[in-house]
Amino acid sequence: MKIAIIGSGGREHAIAWKLAQNAGWENIYVLPGNAGIPRSFSANINDFEALEQYCRENSIGLIVVGPEQPLANGIVDYFRKTDIKILGPTKSAAIMEGSKIFAKEFMRRHGVATSDFEVFDHVDAAMPYIHSKNGDCVIKYDGLAAGKGVFVCNNMPEAEAAMIEFRETYGEKSNFIVEDKIVGDEISIIGLTDGKTIRLLPPAQDHKQVYDNDLGPNTGGMGAFCPAPFYTDKLAAEIDRLIIQPTLRGIEKDALDYKGFLYFGVMMDEKGPKLLEYNARLGDPETEVLLPALNANLVAAVLAALDGSLEEIDWSWNPGFYVDVVLTSGGYPKSFPKGFAIKGLEDVDKDTLLFYAGVKSNGEDLVTDGGRVINVVCKGTTLEEAIENAYQNCNKICFEGMHYRKDIGKRILKNTY
Ligand code: GLY
Repeated sequence: MKIAIIGSGGREHAIAWKLAQNAGWENIYVLPGNAGIPRSFSANINDFEALEQYCRENSIGLIVVGPEQPLANGIVDYFRKTDIKILGPTKSAAIMEGSKIFAKEFMRRHGVATSDFEVFDHVDAAMPYIHSKNGDCVIKYDGLAAGKGVFVCNNMPEAEAAMIEFRETYGEKSNFIVEDKIVGDEISIIGLTDGKTIRLLPPAQDHKQVYDNDLGPNTGGMGAFCPAPFYTDKLAAEIDRLIIQPTLRGIEKDALDYKGFLYFGVMMDEKGPKLLEYNARLGDPETEVLLPALNANLVAAVLAALDGSLEEIDWSWNPGFYVDVVLTSGGYPKSFPKGFAIKGLEDVDKDTLLFYAGVKSNGEDLVTDGGRVINVVCKGTTLEEAIENAYQNCNKICFEGMHYRKDIGKRILKNTY
């Protein structure tokens, strides 16, 4: 079967790599991909008619969607009207990610463990509520915001500054929520669902801030590891009971048409796990460690998710740990220069996986072309060994201005769970 993967980053490279294990690279089309991903072909991922024509010309029978925007734009609804299969939630189900208000009201309606919140449609209307919390709260813009739109505040001066920035960015008449802040460790639980059954990938953690020790501004993700060592059977059972099962029942009750990857951003405080958010897709950079860790035929699993037989497929995780360190352009997530030749790629160990994101070709070399440039993914028997392997291989690659965090996966080693 010929398969198209929609998207252009490290996540899509990892999806293509995993699907190619069962379908063969010659049957993979990454649209538009990038110069580092084999079988990348130029495409406008928001022009569904042109995509359909491309699929017909190339006899593509299955589409797997990486990023959220085409899902929110209704790509699944479009292709459902054709004979080309597509994995992902419909537009009205992708709203679980597309609207923070929908997501929180869904959680409340279906008894999913989450923090208290209020909904507002005007900046001024929220001020008394924010004062009642002494500014100790999280303010979230309702719509898709490409990793922005979330303001974590500790006190009134921070909350007031956040509301000024919010007003400037989104206008004073804007939909948003104010929710109680949860302090603890965050974990990404991602599964593939056919709407009834969910098959989980290993629990992962990503690292959002640009500098070591979680300092500096948020990015698209500076690295990830899996499985999280503190994910005990007891914690897994609690997350299943308090978050995953109520969500699946909610999807059925609300008749949401959800066949695809579903991402639970879970925060663990001392009172137990609570759900921060849903994403209607695989996470990035989590996917770059999760798919190497998955021991399953992903092509068969995707087809099973589409025909409702996910419960029947073989699905397990490889033993050991996986670490992804993201090499970024200097200056990212603010503005940064591009076009620097990337050297040393041929020197990395043969079992290191390189998943490419912001790269293009200058005809000779791969050169930098984005904030997040390359994901360097390594395995180890222990988390320490996987970290060591990843950093040894990062040191073999260089380009002007290259930056990466030196502490991916290390904070968790110091915690005593
Ligand atoms: N790693 C977070 C995300 O994909 O949204």
